[in-house]
Amino acid sequence: MAFFTAIANRKGGVGKSTITVMLAHALAVWGGKRVLILDLDSQCNTSLILLGGQGWNEARKAERSIADYFFDLFDGNNAKPKDYLVHGAGDVAGANGKAPTISLLPGSLLLEDVQGELYLRQAKQSTDPDIVASRVRGRIEMLLRKFEGSYDVVLLDCPPGLSFAALAALSIADRVVVPFRPDYVSELAVDRIALIIEDKRNQDDLDAVAIEDRRYVCLANYVRDNGRDRLLIEEIGLKHPVLETQLPMRDGIANAFDFIGGNRQTIEAKYGNAIDDLKKLYDEIAPLLADEDAKVAAQ
Ligand SMILES: Nc1ncnc2c1ncn2[C@@H]1O[C@H](COP(=O)(O)OP(=O)(O)OP(=O)(O)O)[C@@H](O)[C@H]1O
Ligand SMILES: [Mg+2]
Repeated sequence: MAFFTAIANRKGGVGKSTITVMLAHALAVWGGKRVLILDLDSQCNTSLILLGGQGWNEARKAERSIADYFFDLFDGNNAKPKDYLVHGAGDVAGANGKAPTISLLPGSLLLEDVQGELYLRQAKQSTDPDIVASRVRGRIEMLLRKFEGSYDVVLLDCPPGLSFAALAALSIADRVVVPFRPDYVSELAVDRIALIIEDKRNQDDLDAVAIEDRRYVCLANYVRDNGRDRLLIEEIGLKHPVLETQLPMRDGIANAFDFIGGNRQTIEAKYGNAIDDLKKLYDEIAPLLADEDAKVAAQ
């Protein structure tokens, strides 16, 4: 059974897609894991990082995208989830020089339309908006869970807002990684998403859940070596689980956003001056993404 890990924050531009891809590379190349990424963001950044513009267009033409998958299954087609995946995604090579096991359900610009369409269909069956919303989320959860077989880890790259797909991802995730920037706006965003993940109404109810029992873990990104950043991260750490690893602003991380066509490169070449950051992140996070107790607790 795959371990579902959502990478999410309501705030945009905090590094969700970047970190999703970094984790995929590290888990597949260093951990030998079979990794699947589900791109739940209609901006499709993860798909572009992993396939490049041309590869993503080819996937779209071949109708391999999350929107195709959702549309076909809503229509009752007997399509198999694996028919929508692209295998050997990314431009990194494993130790043997071959593609590591990274598969991708490519994102789609039409994902919002699909969710709207599903909402309208459910709205014909009930006039209660809460019931409709919960059914839509439930359908999407079911469709996402279908990818359980054949993979060790399923990474769900979430959009910045709270779409039905993002809510479904947060609901089925065994673990949620919440990247944040050390600034006040991010602190508020972390507080808010934590309530949703732990299904609590307010901070007092959340505080009643021991920090080590939370389903999510926060990851400071774009960290500068100054007292202000340290203070903010400490402050967030008083209320939320925060990884010891912190990602600074690095060219190696920024450059990894670009897909390099042609021959695959080593993970060391791909991440350049950020390779030690990635190693540290991997060492700390890998045990959390294979934690059977967390998996049982989330169900
Ligand atoms: N530690 C870092 N150092 C340098 N650049 C970074 C770092 N983390 C992310 N970036 C860059 O910041 C930009 C935003 O990152 P990314 O797209 O991963 O954020 P996101 O949270 O997924 O955004 P969105 O909410 O729009 O989906 C990208 O150009 C990425 O290369
Ligand atoms: Mg993103």
